[in-house]
Amino acid sequence: MIEYTLETINKIIENAPSMEPSRQYYFISECKKIISEISAEKKRPLTFNISTFGCQMNAKDSEKLAGILEEIGYQEAESEDADFVLYNTCTVRENANTRVYGRIGVLKTKKKKNPDMIIALCGCMMQEKLVVEKISKSYRHVNIIFGTHNIYKLSELLFLYLVKGKNQIEILDNTDLIVENLPAKRKFGFKSGVNIMYGCNNFCTYCIVPYVRGRERSRNPEDIISEVKELVSGGVVEVMLLGQNVNSYNGGISFPELLDEITKIEGLKRVRFMTSHPKDLSDDLINVIKNNEKICRHIHLPLQSGSTRLLKLMNRHYTKEGYLELAEKIRREIPGVSITTDIIVGFPGETEEDFEETLDVVRRVQFESAFTFIYSKRTGTKAASMPDQVPKEIVDERFNRLLNLVTDISCEQTMVYEGKTLPVLVEEVNEKDGSLLSGRLSNNSLVHFPGPECLVGKIVNVKLEEAKGFYYYGTIADDVSIS
Ligand code: 5AD
Ligand code: SF4
Repeated sequence: MIEYTLETINKIIENAPSMEPSRQYYFISECKKIISEISAEKKRPLTFNISTFGCQMNAKDSEKLAGILEEIGYQEAESEDADFVLYNTCTVRENANTRVYGRIGVLKTKKKKNPDMIIALCGCMMQEKLVVEKISKSYRHVNIIFGTHNIYKLSELLFLYLVKGKNQIEILDNTDLIVENLPAKRKFGFKSGVNIMYGCNNFCTYCIVPYVRGRERSRNPEDIISEVKELVSGGVVEVMLLGQNVNSYNGGISFPELLDEITKIEGLKRVRFMTSHPKDLSDDLINVIKNNEKICRHIHLPLQSGSTRLLKLMNRHYTKEGYLELAEKIRREIPGVSITTDIIVGFPGETEEDFEETLDVVRRVQFESAFTFIYSKRTGTKAASMPDQVPKEIVDERFNRLLNLVTDISCEQTMVYEGKTLPVLVEEVNEKDGSLLSGRLSNNSLVHFPGPECLVGKIVNVKLEEAKGFYYYGTIADDVSIS
């Protein structure tokens, strides 16, 4: 049993490399020693469980966190009855925060049963000072707290907690550092997210992301391309390029150039990307998509509001007409493309006329699908102090009207492909019905069809027999497996 006196601890810390990621590999190996001793004592492997809230970026971060924990010697558990429980949080809307507080409360009871349980919180919500103050005061059973800028430091913080037995909190206000090449445990073998940039510079007035994720930092194209090549050699056929606003990627080459380079990678079959800001979606990008079949026929283009007046108050830098023209151009130039969107209802000062403008855009663009959100006031953003916050009953009523409209339009759009045969990337055995496989069309629509599990990760042609609103039931077309 290693004895961690103050002297040995200080020595270990002194000997740590200062460069990343070497420093984290060093702490991973230090944690590994401790975890293997605890595991030998308990005569069982130690387990971890991660809950991810929020967007694709967080999902990607969680894969990195899981990779680090496995490298340390933890095994993934299905439930929160685990030795290490981690919440990777989101704070885009208030209800995400509320859910996290509720869940941390529940963990307290679990920790009573397993007092050695380590509880850790990270992600966007932790970048808010008031949140961390509240948790460190009222939720003392949380042991490790870190933010979005030092996500890679999990092993170092865990080491400090394990040897010192004191809760560890480390939140950085900002960073220029991009730490890469740490272990990752990917959820799917055949598809993966790939970060191309971090942070956001747009400061939409309702949005907290620029405050919690910091300024925009683009990764080098060489690093991105070599990561994709490595993924492909490990069996990945589809990558999703991730960034808050991929169109403003600037790593020495532009986003369309990067996209074009990535599609040249042999063995890679599909490329997706998320999210596009309408203000920066260029003709070059449209052309690259148009001329390259590997790029999926799907553009997520957040509208937020159809009212030019509100778009100005939101600091979105486009008008209703500008958005409509862009959507029309995309549809004209890229046949078969689906356009999906995000819409906020109840932004401060939203009038019935403003809301009608939003409905008008929804009707005219005919979105294949739309995420609809009720405006949530985020402390620190410009919109939080804007006058005329809209009363809840009015917002709820508008929200329902919008939801009905987007649902009707989605159903109509899904009908368009009924009866057609299209390639589907098979993602998994259907969770509810084990005889079905589920996969996605290039345009991101979901398809369920009977088939053997061995097709997971393959692209097969499927006849879309029946449109069911948001998804299709299909059958594999005869002898047309194309991969
Ligand atoms: N309230 C409601 N929705 C929001 N979003 C971002 N901030 C807020 C907020 N304060 C939505 C936007 C964005 C999506 C990821 O979340 O529609 O595109
Ligand atoms: Fe938030 Fe706007 Fe940045 Fe998107 S572009 S993350 S909505 S500030």
